[in-house]
Amino acid sequence: MQEMNLEHIDISGKPPIEEIEKQYYYMAILKKWVEKKSKELGRPLTCCTVTFGCQMNARDSEKIVGIFEKIGYQMVEDEHADFVIFNTCTVRENANLKVYGRLGYLKKLKEQNPHMMIALCGCMMQEDAVVEKIRQSYRFVDIIFGTHNIFKLAELIHTRLESKSMIIDIWKDAVEIVEDLPSERKYSFKAGVNIMFGCNNFCTYCIVPYVRGRERSRNPKDIIREIEALTADGVVEIMLLGQNVNSYGKNLEVPMTFAQLLEEIEKVDGLERIRFMTPHPKDLSDELIEVMSKSKKICNHLHLPVQSGSSRILKMMNRHYTKEQYLELVDKIKEKVPNISLTTDIIVGFPGETEEDFLETMDVVKKVRYDSAYTFIYSKRTGTPAAQMEEQVGEDVIKNRFDRLLKEIQSISAELVGRDAGTIQKVLVEEVNSQNHALMTGRLSNNILVHFEGNKDLIGRIAEVKLTECKGFYYMGKLVEGSDSTI
Ligand code: SAH
Ligand code: SF4
Ligand code: F3S
Repeated sequence: MQEMNLEHIDISGKPPIEEIEKQYYYMAILKKWVEKKSKELGRPLTCCTVTFGCQMNARDSEKIVGIFEKIGYQMVEDEHADFVIFNTCTVRENANLKVYGRLGYLKKLKEQNPHMMIALCGCMMQEDAVVEKIRQSYRFVDIIFGTHNIFKLAELIHTRLESKSMIIDIWKDAVEIVEDLPSERKYSFKAGVNIMFGCNNFCTYCIVPYVRGRERSRNPKDIIREIEALTADGVVEIMLLGQNVNSYGKNLEVPMTFAQLLEEIEKVDGLERIRFMTPHPKDLSDELIEVMSKSKKICNHLHLPVQSGSSRILKMMNRHYTKEQYLELVDKIKEKVPNISLTTDIIVGFPGETEEDFLETMDVVKKVRYDSAYTFIYSKRTGTPAAQMEEQVGEDVIKNRFDRLLKEIQSISAELVGRDAGTIQKVLVEEVNSQNHALMTGRLSNNILVHFEGNKDLIGRIAEVKLTECKGFYYMGKLVEGSDSTI
């Protein structure tokens, strides 16, 4: 099914039974309501979505924006809007604190605007304690929903308008994957595509499996159809999204590996670059490395979270690999995919982490030589096994380790970043440079930024650029003449 045109939907009768049709029915009703309200107010109704957290949430927010645009809201950046929706994250404690802080501000805005509605959704709302707190202390919130029922947004707004009291609709797990929702892309030339939802890994520190539910893979036909539609619409780069992309396909009726899916996606005409996020080291097969080494489209970059370099801690984290296995895997990848850019995630201060354990992590960092790494201070998440573990590490010790780790990562990445200086590379041109309008800004296959003199017609195209100078974390470059078309 294609996206439906709201003008053709009959809203005089009862809502349809079929889920997706039902949602378009509610969108059609709301469109009429938004038109009426806008007329009364003499201005368009506005909506602001604020996204916290990871790429999954960013993609979900595109679906949320798609629904709002379809029903006639004008999207704005500012929270002085008629509808504000927070798509929340709960992976670490400070993510939650940020949301509560900003809710206080929204309360003031709502007091000034009687038409304002506030909705909260996303991972944080899958936690009972959070919902209870909002129900009791943030009574001005209109709608709360979770990660499994975003597709119901129009219906929930409709229910809220009918009932006049706070609507809470949280599902413990997903019932079905609802396809063909409207969706509004942030960029015209690159897009995120979900290939799976949820996670079955239960790393002991992590709350994601509890708030995103069990692993479910999308049907490969739906994925390919979506990518074909995107490329027909000018997209040249896609990012395949999942919490553990390389366990893709296990629960399909006809099982398929992630490597096989990549081979299918590679065939899509017009698609130039394929990225994916996030692979798990325990599931990174030889088949996948082989496909990566042969591919013309898969980017020369792999984000491979290590979390810790200590086999003892990795076991306590339930990561299913040892330090040695991880290092062997990295060697294999570097051998088969020369010049690959590796990045990672590391947690400092997991319960029971000793200085020795930490030095193992430092050792991995020195051996792998990551281009960059996200480093996180361990955050205790209620309900996860690690929260029950004794020997939580003291704040000062963690801070000291964190600083040493960061210094090591930064010094290695400073050594590595300039390694392509002097070469000609393909750059996906993304935007006019915000500080110097004569410059265009684009990204290399390994995600590093390049600024060069050029014309804005290049946006969304892949150009060849000579990297003339490395400036720390980015390059300055020069456009190679005659490369001003998609290669
Ligand atoms: N599915 C991905 C990403 C999950 S969340 C993966 O497995 O890699 C992104 C990162 O947040 C994780 O890789 C981890 O490093 C970090 N993280 C998750 N839970 C955390 C916690 N309780 N404290 C600190 N960092 C955490
Ligand atoms: Fe969390 Fe581990 Fe799943 Fe990643 S793989 S989402 S870290 S449980
Ligand atoms: Fe946060 Fe949910 Fe992503 S907890 S990191 S937004 S999956």
